[in-house]
Amino acid sequence: MAIELSNHPLVQHYLTILRDVETDAESFRRACSGITGVLMTEAAKQLEVDAITVQTPLEKAHGARLRGEIVFVPILRAGLGMLDAAMATVPGSSVGYIGLERDEVTAEASCYYSKMPELGAAQIVYVLDPMLATGGSAIQSIEQIKAAGATRVSMVSIIAAPEGVKALQVAHPDVTIMTGVIDRELNDSKYICPGLGDFGDRLFRT
Ligand code: PRP
Ligand code: URA
Repeated sequence: MAIELSNHPLVQHYLTILRDVETDAESFRRACSGITGVLMTEAAKQLEVDAITVQTPLEKAHGARLRGEIVFVPILRAGLGMLDAAMATVPGSSVGYIGLERDEVTAEASCYYSKMPELGAAQIVYVLDPMLATGGSAIQSIEQIKAAGATRVSMVSIIAAPEGVKALQVAHPDVTIMTGVIDRELNDSKYICPGLGDFGDRLFRT
């Protein structure tokens, strides 16, 4: 499985805002949108286009149209913070939702909601979840997405832990990951270190 890290200066800038314990919820949301726009732009480099002709006010010109149907699947809750920026970056998408919550003691994720658009060989699915920690949430989500018919799935995260990357690689070797950074490790409570704390709580002020 391919893993791609963005070394874009904007990613480093927004990541620092997200990590900072002093960042308030408004600034956190703006930084989340900003970094998602860059990460999605990087991830979308893999997309293919069909050549078309476009009529300008003056004459015909060569043009291109994205091939395939884009589907974003934000993992609730934290993935919701990435959705608007992802949709603004890549046009014409559909959206599916998967709600997962990690148990505070075992860190195992359980599903409480799922709603998918049509998924098949024509769809290109981007799973949006800012934190790839143990990888449990991503693995379970992608299992659901594949079971619903998708054959082309990528993961877009903001911070990944080495443990989560490895687990996802083993479970879904065909899935490409785009992430802003791979942090050092998980702590005993399965939080990413140095990380940024609980993404959902910081995004939604809970
Ligand atoms: C967080 C995060 C990921 C998950 C990652 O969600 O948004 O979905 O943890 O951890 P994992 O890789 O170990 O599965 P959380 O369960 O805290 O729910 P929330 O988004 O509703 O806050
Ligand atoms: N989920 C988070 O929000 N943060 C972590 O560090 C790990 C999982």
